[in-house]
Amino acid sequence: MESRKSCAYSEHLDLTLERLASPGLLLAAKGRDGRPDNAMTIGWATFGIIWGLPICVVLVRPSRYTYGLIEAARDFTVNVPAEGMAEAVAYLGTASGRDGDKLAHVRLATSASGTVSAPTLSACPVTYECRAVHHNDVIPAHLESRVDRGSYPRGDYHRLYYGEILATTTLL
Ligand SMILES: Cc1cc2nc3c(=O)[nH]c(=O)nc-3n(C[C@H](O)[C@H](O)[C@H](O)COP(=O)(O)O)c2cc1C
Repeated sequence: MESRKSCAYSEHLDLTLERLASPGLLLAAKGRDGRPDNAMTIGWATFGIIWGLPICVVLVRPSRYTYGLIEAARDFTVNVPAEGMAEAVAYLGTASGRDGDKLAHVRLATSASGTVSAPTLSACPVTYECRAVHHNDVIPAHLESRVDRGSYPRGDYHRLYYGEILATTTLL
């Protein structure tokens, strides 16, 4: 039986940053138009304080199915995968929610989050519930050419969503 409790957003940052580096975190969003909730793997994010608020910034390319879901709902969760979830993380980072129910495919159960419409991935030891309070797009002209060449050979520039962390829940 799942028993999540609330904690400070700063309590499990070590584990969060370790899993961000490998195998990645899971960005989840509410489904729309009667379609299922979705999750995608992210390898890039930052956690900190902006505008006096605890903020998680995630970078999402417009080509991702999840992008449209976040645009519609303006909220998301960032879920830290458990050890042993590497296969699910790899699948969620390659398959698209456009083509089917990814969470069902990897048998990851969800539960309602307390503060946002995006689901909590029940088996994940830490979940950050975030409401987008700002977004901006990477500006190619402002990007060092080394980074531009390395990360954007197809010109698919990320949108950065600044999520106020409204709640953090944990199984730990
Ligand atoms: C380790 C890893 C890290 C990734 N990091 C990001 C990321 O930070 N931002 C992004 O837009 N895509 C990232 N991706 C790619 C998406 O997870 C992938 O395109 C996914 O299939 C999108 O799913 P969707 O179409 O259901 O939204 C990453 C993939 C992997 C495997």
